[in-house]
Amino acid sequence: MSLSLIQLTDWDADRFEGFARQVLAHKNQGGFTSLIRKSISLLFLEPSTRTRLSFERAAHHLGYSVSLLSGVQGSSLEKGESPSDTFLNLIAMQPDAVVVRSSDAFPLIDLAAQTDIPLICAGWGKKAHPTQALLDAVTLFEHWQSLQQQRILFCGDLAHSRVLASHRELLSGLGIAVGFWSPPEWQLSNLLPNEILFTHKKEALEWAQAIIGLRWQKERHESDFDLNADLKSYQLKQADLLGLKNSPLILHPGPVGWGEEFHSDIQCYPFNKILTQVHNGVWTRAQLLLTATRGQL
Ligand code: CP
Repeated sequence: MSLSLIQLTDWDADRFEGFARQVLAHKNQGGFTSLIRKSISLLFLEPSTRTRLSFERAAHHLGYSVSLLSGVQGSSLEKGESPSDTFLNLIAMQPDAVVVRSSDAFPLIDLAAQTDIPLICAGWGKKAHPTQALLDAVTLFEHWQSLQQQRILFCGDLAHSRVLASHRELLSGLGIAVGFWSPPEWQLSNLLPNEILFTHKKEALEWAQAIIGLRWQKERHESDFDLNADLKSYQLKQADLLGLKNSPLILHPGPVGWGEEFHSDIQCYPFNKILTQVHNGVWTRAQLLLTATRGQL
């Protein structure tokens, strides 16, 4: 049994549905019972709001204590200690699980293999964000009660998204149809059998039962983009969605680029699930921490 959560390639429909039902049962009963007190360490080497705070809230729900190292300032990273050494020192303090957000360069898989302390990836450069993919899927499962036969469209900056990288692993394993619609410069080149590329906005939106927007990630681009009419035509607004027969749900992992991938009027779209995702992130991460600290990841 794996001790880390980095990739989602071994999740199938049964595993996901069992997990989602546990998350939602705890959410609906408002907490967990009969817990043994544990400790977790959070190592956030890159900025975060939702993921870091929701892991802290999740630990609170479980009655776990949290040690947090967030950013370089005030830590020995400032004195030149490497992120790998920092990780190994955290592990030497023997937490019951460790949660890591890092850049692409951080050797997450190698370090996970060096310890028997469960490791949960909380965002790894452009490579992975498995807890976000799971909480998005839990949010869709909560709404539809099943993900079978559903069609999920991703739009925005596909090329630079770690959220999408993890969704592709998860959704292909669940056999779910995935569509893409994005500016040509941020498209994907290799499609999996369950994936389809749209070039027309109307066709893509009419196909989708849920749309997951992805931020235009300026910090990962080689040059600044020009928000010209061409690029703005890839922005999603309420007028694109109202009147569609399928009334697609709208999701976004956050932070949202209002005025970029989404027009600000999406905030008032009736099937907007963005803050439900944030809420479900706490319960999804609590379930993952519980599973990890029981050695059952
Ligand atoms: N979705 C997400 O990872 O948000 P943060 O960067 O704020 O954690």
